[in-house]
Amino acid sequence: MMTGNHNATENAHPDPTVLAGGMAVITGGASGIGFALAEAAVARGLHPALVDIEQEALATAERRLQAAADAAGVEVAGFRADVSVSAEVDALAEKVRERFPGRPISLLCCNAGVGAGGGVTTASDADWAFVLGVNLLGVAHCVRAFVPGMLRQDAPGSVVATSSQDGLCAAQGVYGVSKHACVALTEALHGEVRDRLSVHVLCPNVVATNIVTSVRNRPERFGGPVDTGEQARRVQDRFKALGMPPARCAKMVFDAIQTGVFYILAEAEEDPGYVRLEAETRMNAILNGTRPYRPRSEFIAKVFTAPM
Ligand SMILES: NC(=O)c1ccc[n+]([C@@H]2O[C@H](COP(=O)([O-])OP(=O)(O)OC[C@H]3O[C@@H](n4cnc5c(N)ncnc54)[C@H](O)[C@@H]3O)[C@@H](O)[C@H]2O)c1
Repeated sequence: MMTGNHNATENAHPDPTVLAGGMAVITGGASGIGFALAEAAVARGLHPALVDIEQEALATAERRLQAAADAAGVEVAGFRADVSVSAEVDALAEKVRERFPGRPISLLCCNAGVGAGGGVTTASDADWAFVLGVNLLGVAHCVRAFVPGMLRQDAPGSVVATSSQDGLCAAQGVYGVSKHACVALTEALHGEVRDRLSVHVLCPNVVATNIVTSVRNRPERFGGPVDTGEQARRVQDRFKALGMPPARCAKMVFDAIQTGVFYILAEAEEDPGYVRLEAETRMNAILNGTRPYRPRSEFIAKVFTAPM
């Protein structure tokens, strides 16, 4: 049992080994950035609890982590849950507590997200409910279900939400709205738990994941799964070929936990400084009374528009 002072006064755990032995609850843990966070957590001696809506991908992810977990002496657990449903997240928190009584939750990664929604002039009620349900309320549900216990536990803790570069620049579409809201929620959380838990928001450029085909996970109550079609599959291929490796994001997260950085600008090596430029451009527009503007990135243009 850990004892002692578990504050995070500089929004940091300068000695990150204090988190070892606790659990890392990671939503969207079966794929992409979430899976990379789980691998990084295992390497640092945390017990990963992968949470995902995709049962099969979850089982595969558990298997893929097993050897590293055995080597690190930690236990892998998988939990199926839809983070957009508050009752499922509450039940998840209960299941985690029942299965691992007394084991602290040292890291909560509210990472599950969907890249969908379309433009704000055309999005349907179901589009809004789906994207805000996962990208915003999914984070809110997890914060409410896990953070009070993390504040009470006799152990240190960190909370990381995955937003996007889209949460910092002039917003675009329903996705951009949801990611701005995710940044705002995380700022509000930081205000409420500051100096007890460290809190961080991950804002990446393009990452090599399955995000483009997110509507594969659209629950029936939001209209059901959608086949994204050939064009989206080509964009997905370019995300995989050109996007930064998810492990790069995961390393930045653990570095931020150590140094106390709140806004994690996860820059792509191929597009250095672009996330910073987007944030600066938005702030300058606010301060100078000019119109919102998203600077051009050759890298992003290549990912979204170049022929394969
Ligand atoms: N890939 C990028 O370029 C990029 C850039 C910026 C931000 N992000 C954000 O990163 C996060 C992780 O996405 P990724 O890129 O790894 O994509 P991904 O599709 O590879 O992984 C997302 C995971 O979340 C799971 N998920 C989706 N809906 C869920 C739900 N309702 N409940 C539980 N799990 C659910 C999916 O099954 C999947 O395993 C998302 O929040 C995304 O918006 C991604």
